[in-house]
Amino acid sequence: MLEQLENLKKEFNAELQNAKDKTALLNIKAQYIGKTGKMNDILSKMKDASIEVKKSVGAKSNEIKSEMSEKIDEKLAQIETAEINENLAKNWVDITLTDGRRDLGLNCAGYHPVSIVQREIEDIFISMGFEILDGPHIEDDYHNFEALNIPPTHPARDMQDTFWFSDMKHLLRTHTSTIQVRGMESHKPPFKFVGPGKVFRCEATDASHEIAFHQLEGMMVGENVSVANLIYFMKTLLSEIFRKDVEVRLRPGFFPFVEPGFELDIRCLNCGGNGCSVCKHSGWLELLPCGMVHPNVLKYGGIDTEKYNGFAFGLGLDRLVMMRYKIDDIRLIHSGDLRFVKQFAEF
Ligand code: DAH
Repeated sequence: MLEQLENLKKEFNAELQNAKDKTALLNIKAQYIGKTGKMNDILSKMKDASIEVKKSVGAKSNEIKSEMSEKIDEKLAQIETAEINENLAKNWVDITLTDGRRDLGLNCAGYHPVSIVQREIEDIFISMGFEILDGPHIEDDYHNFEALNIPPTHPARDMQDTFWFSDMKHLLRTHTSTIQVRGMESHKPPFKFVGPGKVFRCEATDASHEIAFHQLEGMMVGENVSVANLIYFMKTLLSEIFRKDVEVRLRPGFFPFVEPGFELDIRCLNCGGNGCSVCKHSGWLELLPCGMVHPNVLKYGGIDTEKYNGFAFGLGLDRLVMMRYKIDDIRLIHSGDLRFVKQFAEF
């Protein structure tokens, strides 16, 4: 029986060595020194043994039992320490670092200034009940020109302005007004939506001209839509963007897809209208072209012009970004220069 106890001890030691976690340890404890464990199994066979045997086996079993229990406690402490260390290593926080990720000097992602402004404007329009639409960069003549009442002889079709594909049928959209056409194809009036995106012009670049830039098109079609509605939405939008009440004025402007067409100006935010270098001493800043949608455009869109009319506008996003962040060269926007982009990073 003493031999059995010695064997049990060896078996126990081997199993203990292999135990990797708390559950395994508790199992071993139950298996060997638990109430219905192997140790008691052996001892239960002692009933008929002599007093001497009982004594010596009893003493031996007690010795082995407390040895086992000690070893289990020791191993348990080891496993717990290892777990704590592992957790500390995994969830390590350097509390000396500052909160702003920009300060870390890491190349982590953030929003481009155009995206920041675009998202803000989208939110304003969503709050006024507008939908946000998207459209393709590669377009055809119909969506970029014809359906917008731009006749074949119009200068906007000039090779200098448009990037044509070699098939001469496809082009890179020159404006987001294409989204008006696509919006009318997919919507029945009344509707109102905005469509932001990149546009492309084949022209020489300088501090205020880029071959790729950003616009945000808007269109509202319904019954009895008026210039007053147009002014209301534009004034609300601009007051939200500039975070103060802005004064607007309309001047006549020509665009084939609107009639009447306007240039919308706001009272110069820099000088309040007294005249300064920002407004070239006129007191006004030209902000966005707009107008009442030309009936021909509505007809191309399959809309009943007896019943419905609407307004449209095209906002130049880069210009707004430049005004907000005081950027003096539009070419920086597409430069891909991380030193530039990081200055605006919002996460
Ligand atoms: N699509 C014009 C452009 O890129 C801008 C524009 C003017 C859009 C008047 C409009 C509008 O919706 O009504 O030059």
